Formats: sequence, C-alpha cells, structure tokens
Amino acid sequence: MSCSQPLVDAFDRRISYLRLSVTDRCDLRCSYCMPERMQFLPKKEVLSLEELHRLALAFIDRGITKIRLTGGEPLVRRDVVELVQALGRRLGDGLEELTLTTNGTRLAEFAGPLLDAGVKRVNVSLDTMDATLFETLSRRDRLVQVLRGIAAASAIGLKVKINTVALKSLNEGKIPYLVEWAHAHGHDITLIEVMPLGEIDGERVDHYLPLPAIRDRLEERFTLTDLPDDTGGPARYVRVEETGGRLGFITPLTNNFCASCNRIRVTATGQLFACLGGAEQVDLRAALRSDDPAARLAEALDTAMRIKPERHHFAHARGATPAQPRHMSVTGG
Ligand code: 5AD
Ligand code: SF4
Repeated sequence: MSCSQPLVDAFDRRISYLRLSVTDRCDLRCSYCMPERMQFLPKKEVLSLEELHRLALAFIDRGITKIRLTGGEPLVRRDVVELVQALGRRLGDGLEELTLTTNGTRLAEFAGPLLDAGVKRVNVSLDTMDATLFETLSRRDRLVQVLRGIAAASAIGLKVKINTVALKSLNEGKIPYLVEWAHAHGHDITLIEVMPLGEIDGERVDHYLPLPAIRDRLEERFTLTDLPDDTGGPARYVRVEETGGRLGFITPLTNNFCASCNRIRVTATGQLFACLGGAEQVDLRAALRSDDPAARLAEALDTAMRIKPERHHFAHARGATPAQPRHMSVTGG
C-alpha cells in the first residue's frame, strides 16, 4: 500500500524532514524578509489546527522523522502549543525530533510549554545584539524581549541555536562579537546568506554578503576547525577553538547544498513546496478537504517526490525579480 511507503525523490534522496509553516504572519518586519506593508494571507485560507495535525500525521506515516514548525512567526499563532502537544505525543512513535524556528519575541512565555511537550531545541533568529540596529533591521523595538526569551529557554534546558542572516554594512562588523556572545552563553550559531525570495522595500543585493569572505575574516581572529558533516542539513560547521563553540555556515548562494537535501516544506495554507528556491508545488489542502483524504494525500505526496527538483538556482542581481515571488515567511524559514 502506497500510504506507508517512505518518501524518496527522483534523485534517490530520502525525504525525512518536514518544515511546516503554521502561519505566514509575524510580529517583526525584517527588511530583508518582507516589506513594511506586508500583505498577509486571509485567515480562512490557513489550515486549521486539526488539519495541520492530520497533515503532520500523514507525513509521519510516510517516514518523516523530524518536523520543524516555522512561520512567519509560529508563536504568534495562539493555538500552536496545542499542535506541539499533539505532535509531541508521536515522539518515539515514528517522530524522532520536533523543533521550532522562532524570532524569540514570545519565547519567554512559550519556552515552558514547548519543553513540556517534548521540544528539546529551538532555533532563534537574531541578527544583532545592538538595540538600534535591531530596530532598523526588524522595524520593531523588540531586542529586549528576544534576549529575555533566549535566556528563559536556556534557563529551563531548552537548547537554543542562533540563526543570523549576514548583511553587508549592517551587522557585518559585529558578527565576531555575535559569535563570541552566542558561544559564551552555550548556543551554537549559524550564519546565513540572504536569499532572493519575495519582494521587499529596497534591494537585497545591496546587503548580500558572501559567507566565504566572512569566514576568511573570522579566521584572522579565531582558529576554525572543520567538523565532520554529520547533520545532513545545509549548514557546514566549524569549531571555534577559542570559544569551544560551534559555528555553522549556510551558503545557498556561494555553495549550494542541494545534493543531500532531505527536506520538504509546507505552507500554512497546505501548499507543499518541493524546493525552497523552486516553483514546484502540490496542493495538500485540496487533498485534505477532498472526500478521500487518505488516498488524495498519498497521491499528492507521490507527485511531490516526482517533481522535487535536483537543486535551486539562486542569484542576486540589481533590479531583478526574486528567484521566487513568495517570501521566506510564506514557505517557512
Ligand atoms: N534570506 C535568508 N534568510 C531569510 N530569513 C528570512 N528571509 C530570508 C531571506 N530572504 C531567515 C530569518 C530566519 C530564518 C527562518 O530565515 O532571519 O533566521
Ligand atoms: Fe518575521 Fe522571520 Fe521574516 Fe523577520 S525574518 S520578518 S522574524 S518571518
């Protein structure tokens, strides 16, 4: 029966990792991510909690072992904790890991319930430790809340990894300090190249910073030792000998990591995107809402495996339209 067949794509990649967006909304407006006047999806288009749950279970049935809830900002969706609790009950029963990517503004409130539901690690996006720059970048004055959220999560034993988008002439000069700060507080940190996804106010190319250059600069100050590639994810990790901490590089522009891709993304409206940088798409909401959801979903997932492209082709150019019209906050960060 096809419904418990593992998900394997046309390039023989076993898909075991689902990134599930629970909302496209966010309480920040990071300038590289979205415009100030972002047009969010009508709420009625978004999957209900029950639909998200059924969808996730269908993926677990097809061999998905890791689920990351994303957004937008997942913690602006009030009922997200109920979803985390429901999925947490599948940990050890098909599901091996349940995680979340958050901007941290509401983490102080949610850290406890997340931990209780079985979440062990969260990724927190943080591009700067400077309150003024934070407000410039995110168009909101929330650094204090984010730092409080990170501290609260750490204090109760939730492991926090910091994600930082490297931005030319914005946070560029303070990246070494961010790395030291993260490591001093026991957090791994990963640097990310900005990707051309969705229209923003301004040009991303103005702030695009290729990470090989940053690595060279960090090496003037730190001793970086390559770590074996054991995460299966897109980040390449080094150990910073001076701090003892781990530092990752996600380089979708300078060095694509698609050959080992094991993931699939679903938007809050139930659209499966086979690749972050591609247009290949399958409508899972229609399948869920059909009169034979199990069969339609199985078919939709088989289709997704057939159409998942070999790799993305990102590039930055002035005045060019983004590689994909949808924002990262729609497809899921
Ligand atoms: N390119 C790279 N990273 C992005 N993020 C949001 N938009 C973009 C983009 N266009 C990041 C967020 C967060 C993660 C989920 O995605 O800063 O760290
Ligand atoms: Fe929100 Fe994340 Fe986009 Fe910033 S990068 S606006 S936190 S979704």
